Amino acid sequence: MESIAVTGGRKLSGSVDVSGSKNAALPVLFSALLADGEHHFDNVPQLRDIVSTEQLLAALNCESSRNGNSMRIRVAPPSTPEAPYDLVRKMRASILCLGPLLARYGQARVSLPGGCAIGSRPVDLHVETMQRLGAEIEIEAGYVIAKAKRLVGDRILFDKVTVGGTENALMAATLARGTTVIENAAKEPEVVDLVHYLQTMGAKIEGAGSSVITIEGVDELQPGRHSIVADRIEAGTLLIAGAITGGSVRVARCEPAHLQSLIDKLRESGFDVHADQDSITVEEAQSWKGTDVTTAPYPAFPTDLQAQFMALMTQAEGTSVITEGIFENRFMHVQELVRLGANITPMAQVAIVRGNRGALSGASVMATDLRASASLVLAGLAAEGTTMVNRIYHLDRGYENLERKLAGLGADIKRVNAG
Ligand code: UD1
Repeated sequence: MESIAVTGGRKLSGSVDVSGSKNAALPVLFSALLADGEHHFDNVPQLRDIVSTEQLLAALNCESSRNGNSMRIRVAPPSTPEAPYDLVRKMRASILCLGPLLARYGQARVSLPGGCAIGSRPVDLHVETMQRLGAEIEIEAGYVIAKAKRLVGDRILFDKVTVGGTENALMAATLARGTTVIENAAKEPEVVDLVHYLQTMGAKIEGAGSSVITIEGVDELQPGRHSIVADRIEAGTLLIAGAITGGSVRVARCEPAHLQSLIDKLRESGFDVHADQDSITVEEAQSWKGTDVTTAPYPAFPTDLQAQFMALMTQAEGTSVITEGIFENRFMHVQELVRLGANITPMAQVAIVRGNRGALSGASVMATDLRASASLVLAGLAAEGTTMVNRIYHLDRGYENLERKLAGLGADIKRVNAG
């Protein structure tokens, strides 16, 4: 099994390019199911979750091929519009094929995703949305079985902001009869990127990026070409990597506006951060202050950067209160950070971090989920000695060559076969 060995103590410096966004690419690739023919995508990151998506699309009669970061998907009707458990269990986001399959074929059989390390993460809102659009739904033997001659537009009011739920609703509504209005919609940049591709295919959508999105259903969509937006979570992780080593790092080919909440928090903590059109630079710092953070839907601080920011706060002067406002049970990284010497007290949805520069020392740690893995790598950059991060298949789900990018900035990091 592969692990990452990182030896701390080096200040990072230089410039690094951000890859395409995993969380934008997944719904965009699933949206291809809405139109037969050949779709072209650029800036697609090379990740395990993308391979899982290609496998599910292959089971649905779509042929995909890659050339570097470009991907071509040829879509043709499947013999049965079914997403089997074996493929769905690898990646929860597979539920995103429910909307497109149902809208396109009037039926879908999609396995319920299994449990997840970060809270129970139900899919009730996805299912209710399809019912709202006129689908009959049964849950049978672990599968969502959905049927509708043709979906009919309606008003969908989410009682909780859900990124995936909004994306599924959007995709389903593009081919529904009449108008759909989504209220309390997610405003995340990944939702906006999906809407850009749906519009390229001919969908009529207004209001993306706001909390009310209106979709005028059309009879048919056409395949097109789209370049995936930069990954704001990877960009944020790389910035924090620079910050935690006290180094100076420029993160290039990103959208600084998508990271305003992180930039604000880094500045509040005492870092000098500059942003221009498509890059962000964090400057060298001798010390930084404990800073409180609460995660919430965009544009507030992203839950997907909570674990990484917590690693940074273990090295701050003073105390930080970190509140997880999106997922229950998303503090699995705390115990591993504590094993490295961090002083953190988790209490339900809140963690108190008492910063102490230089208190971390290398140890063997276990990655529990994707973003937790990244926080352990970051902590390793600041720890004395070598940290071995095990179970890095989590990291490979969502970061393209993280260790190579960090090594390019001067980190002492390598992938090793730990047997
Ligand atoms: C997406 C991201 C994930 C990120 C999360 C929140 C992808 C592939 N993943 O996940 O990285 O952490 O947004 O920004 O884009 N909920 C329900 N019922 C539902 C759906 C969600 O109760 O049917 C709850 C969830 O448990 C959570 C909250 O709603 O508490 C928000 O989840 P949601 O925005 O749907 O997250 P995902 O789309 O799964």
